[in-house]
Amino acid sequence: MYGKDSVILSDICKRPAGFEHLTPFCYVNILDKTSIEEAVVNNNIDTLIHFSALLSAVGENNVPLAISVNGRGVENVLEISKSHNLKLFIPSTIGAFGPTTTRDGTPDLTIQRPRTIYGVTKVYAELLGEYYHEKYGVDFRSLRFPGIISTVEPGGGTTDYAIKIYYDALLHGKHICYLKPDTELPMMYDTDCMTSVIQMLHTPSEKLSLRTYNVTGFSFTPEQIAESIRKRIPNFQIEYNICPIRQKIADSWPRSLDDSTARRDWAWKPEYDLEATTEIMLELLTAKLLPPSESEPKLATM
Ligand SMILES: NC(=O)c1ccc[n+]([C@@H]2O[C@H](COP(=O)([O-])OP(=O)(O)OC[C@H]3O[C@@H](n4cnc5c(N)ncnc54)[C@H](O)[C@@H]3O)[C@@H](O)[C@H]2O)c1
Repeated sequence: MYGKDSVILSDICKRPAGFEHLTPFCYVNILDKTSIEEAVVNNNIDTLIHFSALLSAVGENNVPLAISVNGRGVENVLEISKSHNLKLFIPSTIGAFGPTTTRDGTPDLTIQRPRTIYGVTKVYAELLGEYYHEKYGVDFRSLRFPGIISTVEPGGGTTDYAIKIYYDALLHGKHICYLKPDTELPMMYDTDCMTSVIQMLHTPSEKLSLRTYNVTGFSFTPEQIAESIRKRIPNFQIEYNICPIRQKIADSWPRSLDDSTARRDWAWKPEYDLEATTEIMLELLTAKLLPPSESEPKLATM
C-alpha cells in the first residue's frame, strides 16, 4: 500500500527464520530514546506503530521488565512523537479491563481495574497517550485488541492457546489446553487486526470521537474452537490441564467486546468469523508445517 521501502520494521532481535525478506529492517531498543530517535530522523519517519511489549503471562513472570518495556517504552515513543510531530499508534488490549468490568459486551468507556502488570501498563499507555493528545496535540491512536490469531508463534499471552491449538491439530492431532473448556474470550484473525490498524490510522482526526476504541472479531470457548477444527480433522482431540495463572487472568477479562463506536466512526467491520479463521489457519499452517508429501493425505481427511 505504501511502497516497499516506505515501511521500516524494527526490533531488538533478528527477524525470525522465513521473514528475512522483510526489509528495510533496523535495530531499535524501545528503552533507548536515542536509538528510536535515530531511526525516526535518519528515515524521515512520519508514523510510528509501537507494537513492542511484554504480554500478559510473560509480564507476570517478570514484573520489573514489563514495567520498563510497556511503561518506559510508551513514555519514550510519546516524547519522540511530540518532538518530531509523528502520528502514533499503540495497541491496547482486553487485558486493560479487570474483574470489576462488565464481562459481556464490554463498552469503550467503563471500569478499568486490571490485575495484571500487562493490564496496568496498558491502561497507563491509553491514559498517557490521551493526555499527550489533549496537552500537546500528539496524534495518538489506540485500539483495544482481543486475542489475535495468526500463524506466527504466540508471544506469551493468555489467548496463545487459540494459535497453538491449530499447530497441535496438524502436528499431533491433539491439544492440551491450559484454559477450562467453557472459558469464553474475544478473538480476531490477523488480517482483520492489520486492517483495523490501517483503517483507523487513515481516518481523519475529526471523525474520531475517541482516541482508544474497542475492536473485536468473534468470541469462542476452547470447546467451540475444538469443534470447529473437528469439522475439518475429525479425529482431533482436546484435553485439559488448567494453568491457574492463565485461567485467573482469562476469568478477569471480557467474554465479548462492544465495538459499535469503531463501526460507527470509521466503518470498522471484521471479515473473519471462527469458521473462516479455522479454514485459513489450517490452510496456511499446513503449507508452513507439513512437507508436501505429508500435507496431501492430511488435507484429504479435512
Ligand atoms: N497478540 C495478541 O493477542 C495481542 C492482543 C492484544 C494486544 N496486543 C498488543 O500487540 C502488540 C504486539 O503483540 P505481539 O503478540 O506481537 O507480541 P510479541 O511478544 O510477539 O512481540 C513483542 C515484540 O516486542 C519486542 N521487544 C521486547 N522488548 C523490546 C525492546 N526493549 N525494544 C524493542 N522491541 C522490544 C520483542 O522482541 C517482540 O518482537 C503488543 O503491544 C500487545 O500488547 C497483542
